[in-house]
Amino acid sequence: MRNWDELEAACGACRNCSLWEGRTNVVFGVGSRQAEVLFIGEGPGENEDLQGEPFVGRGGKLLDDMMGAIGLKRRDVYIANIVKCRPPQNRDPMNTEIEACIGYLRNQVALLRPKIIVCLGRIAAMRVIQEDFKITRDHGKWYEKNGVWVMALFHPAALLRDPRRRPDTFTDLKALRAKIQELCTHTPLAD
Ligand code: URA
Repeated sequence: MRNWDELEAACGACRNCSLWEGRTNVVFGVGSRQAEVLFIGEGPGENEDLQGEPFVGRGGKLLDDMMGAIGLKRRDVYIANIVKCRPPQNRDPMNTEIEACIGYLRNQVALLRPKIIVCLGRIAAMRVIQEDFKITRDHGKWYEKNGVWVMALFHPAALLRDPRRRPDTFTDLKALRAKIQELCTHTPLAD
């Protein structure tokens, strides 16, 4: 098993699929390496590619607000993506790209050993929870995978497109807060 710095360096030099050709930066992940809660998005968009950090655009601001709604701070969790390089025109990552990249996320999970994983959107949920995951049907449900509690929320970009999904997401976030209170020992939750 690699350590964090070796893993990040390997990922930064990766050419396992053709997405490397269009990248400005590899978007490895950010946050606390002691985090008990891991958020997993789909892949970098334009702003993330330019800055090398996940969820820094409009969707990122909404993700911060979503966490803020339950008293959670970005610096106290870890945020990563299924694929670490931006797909052209923000298209969905292809299965071949996901499979080429998933080893980095596996290693991140192995190093972090999170108590809770939150998938952001359909693509992450289909890869992490189950292949036939339907986000409109299955968001907010808890799954136990190898001793880790996993759930999915609507992707922030989907919430920006369709604000009617926000009340459901608030319900899901409250379930997340309750699970953090139940399982986590050092994840601060403001009132
Ligand atoms: N959308 C994602 O899924 N991940 C990011 O990092 C940014 C936008």
